[in-house]
Amino acid sequence: MATALQARCVFLGAPGAGKGTQAKKVADGAALAHISTGDMLRQEVAAGTALGRQARTFMDAGKLVPDDVIIGMVRARIQQPDAKTAWILDGFPRTLPQAEALDRSLTGATALTHVIYFAVPEAALVGRLSGRRTCSKCGAIWHVEHKPTRRAGICDACGGELAQRSDDRPEAIGKRLEVYRSQTAPLLAYYRDRRVLREVDADRSPEIVYQELLKLMQ
Ligand code: AP5
Ligand code: MG
Repeated sequence: MATALQARCVFLGAPGAGKGTQAKKVADGAALAHISTGDMLRQEVAAGTALGRQARTFMDAGKLVPDDVIIGMVRARIQQPDAKTAWILDGFPRTLPQAEALDRSLTGATALTHVIYFAVPEAALVGRLSGRRTCSKCGAIWHVEHKPTRRAGICDACGGELAQRSDDRPEAIGKRLEVYRSQTAPLLAYYRDRRVLREVDADRSPEIVYQELLKLMQ
């Protein structure tokens, strides 16, 4: 079990790089809030809210949800009591306007402590995404080959049913990778210039990546 970390951290990387898998584990072990914009949007979609209906068309097509929607959602989330001092942002920011908005809302004692880039060759990403299965009850992330459940289609953690994300279809995967290259990859230079960028080789086993992250986040 890891000790509590006072980190305000961004996990940056392509779709399928392992951000969600690691963010859940690090956040659970180190008492950090796990703020996943993708998970928040999927909850809105599942609840049928106006925001969810607006977001769904973008998400299913593999496109980004408009910046103003996302920025408002994250600003509200990081003001919640559990997220005042220590958190992992998973999937945000992913455009330059989002990164600039985050900088504006964090100052002094709440400034970012780490931005960690999950480096994975693109060739490995498609297989990770197309084989991913997610528990519809507890959100645990599985993979048909890399991280199979004991019983096919049933979550080992809670017994919930596994589902495939609607944006893990081949057409949407291709679009998401293209959007990542054009809109999110430029953030690497943005954070490198600010001297907060660290890199983890995330093309290794989840356990090795996890141990490396704990070292980087001390
Ligand atoms: P989001 O949910 O954030 O999706 P994403 O960024 O495309 O990232 P993924 O969740 O697909 O990948 P991941 O890195 O979390 O990988 P995971 O750990 O699951 O966003 C979805 C959509 O919401 C966006 O397309 C957009 O429409 C919208 N959205 C969200 N945020 C937004 C924002 N800020 N602005 C605008 N729009 C936004 O792992 C993947 C698979 O690989 C799993 O099966 C896992 O078991 C396996 N795996 C993990 N690690 C390893 C490993 N080390 N070795 C082998 N397999 C592994
Ligand atoms: Mg994710």
